[in-house]
Amino acid sequence: MQLPIDIEKRSDISLQDQIMTRVRELILHRKLVPGTKLPSSRDFSKQLDVSRNTVIYAYDRLVSEGYLEVKGRSGMFVSAQIPENALNISTCNVGANARAFSLTSKRLLPVRHRSPLLYQRLRERIELDFRIGRPAASSFPERLWTRLLVEKMAGSGRRMTEYGNPAGLEELRVAISDHLQAARGINAHPDQIIVVAGCEEGLNIIAKILTPAGSTVYVENPCYKGVPFVFESYGAKVVPIPIDSEGLCVDRLATRERGIVCVTPSHQFPIGVTMSLSRRLKLLDWVNSAGTYIVEDDYDSDFRYDGSPLTALAGLDKSGSVIYIGTFSKSIGAGLRVGYLVVPEELIGPTREAKALLNNGNPWLEQAVIAEFLASGGFRKHLRQIRQTYLKRRNTLLEQLRLRFGNIDILGEEGGMHLTWVLPKTFSNARAIQYECLHRGVGIYSIDDSPAIDFDNTHFRERAVFFGYPCLSEGEIVTAVGRLADAAADLG
Ligand SMILES: Cc1ncc(COP(=O)(O)O)c(C=O)c1O
Repeated sequence: MQLPIDIEKRSDISLQDQIMTRVRELILHRKLVPGTKLPSSRDFSKQLDVSRNTVIYAYDRLVSEGYLEVKGRSGMFVSAQIPENALNISTCNVGANARAFSLTSKRLLPVRHRSPLLYQRLRERIELDFRIGRPAASSFPERLWTRLLVEKMAGSGRRMTEYGNPAGLEELRVAISDHLQAARGINAHPDQIIVVAGCEEGLNIIAKILTPAGSTVYVENPCYKGVPFVFESYGAKVVPIPIDSEGLCVDRLATRERGIVCVTPSHQFPIGVTMSLSRRLKLLDWVNSAGTYIVEDDYDSDFRYDGSPLTALAGLDKSGSVIYIGTFSKSIGAGLRVGYLVVPEELIGPTREAKALLNNGNPWLEQAVIAEFLASGGFRKHLRQIRQTYLKRRNTLLEQLRLRFGNIDILGEEGGMHLTWVLPKTFSNARAIQYECLHRGVGIYSIDDSPAIDFDNTHFRERAVFFGYPCLSEGEIVTAVGRLADAAADLG
């Protein structure tokens, strides 16, 4: 079968993008109907006179966006459910829907969807996954958790039928305050702590109380998508500021208007650099003189392997300018959906109110279990164990990468749960390597296929590859890096 497609070889638009767009148009105009089999990548590449990889990547992207589906060895087919179908106004029921749309459309703020391109369907091909930001599933203290759940439930009394304090369970806030003092040098009264459903809810609360529509929010570039997307959804103006090897380029803020600054100083997301002490102090100075706040997202600071961790910005802050966000998603598991804010005194009231308006507080049982886990020393022991495991995995990864590729440019290996390899110019770009690895069952990640965003198309977008190492054993890491070396050799 030949597809009626022409491509322009001398266009500024890449061949891959042109193929993708043309195939998508054929599908949306119903020239290719659901269930139609597409030509094999080999035949299609001959028809178009392009490399087979160009077709493979274009097909992969169409699969990841839901237009095509792979059926085992039978080949590539137009998906049974096409994404645009749901949005196609001519085929949906007008009337009530149309009225609802016209009533609300003027007030809708942009809510960007955060899913990276590499969707679940492609992920099924991955056996050895360096996915970022996930603790090892085997590390979850399942037996202890079950025991604590049963114990807490048995003594729950009225706590399952009453509303609790929206700011969170007192015992948990006390335990978090003790942990932060010892681990991050933060001296926070339990009243300053608000238990939230992960960093994400924390960001929503901050946006709700501090960034009215039109206000400015500075973010690192590149950064975790969740941060700009949350603030944008409240109508704030997001301004990206570059990072370098010392973290946020604070000098770039000098002449700018007042605005909240969001940073990940312990392990910049996604690149991994640590913000230097001098930058931390400069940033605190700028924020103080501007009379605004820093939002410190300390998502994976529980893991530090080399050197001692720098005190959190919230620990250095003397003037109540830092809002600290912590999470148990990385240290225990994202399924818990528990994190916390540490806010300056003047924000205690508004933050509590905002949390109460959202959901009147987190569920009691989970909070009670985490409080006991922290207070009993279980959390400290758990962290000690997983730090050792992750350290060994990180070391194996570094060793194998260096063995296969020599003296390479690695960033962010001192801490956290992922590291970055900045590919040399002599290599193909990050997405090409990522997709070549995908065909070998190995998941590595470029900015475009991670929870990160690069607003300015920096060299990281093309060159940075991320490896989350907690979920693979040392043996699996050796195999995966071997396959990565084969992939790189094939790309030439
Ligand atoms: C930098 C950063 N901040 C926040 C989060 C989200 O954390 P939570 O699960 O607590 O919402 C993530 C998750 O990957 C992250 O990478």
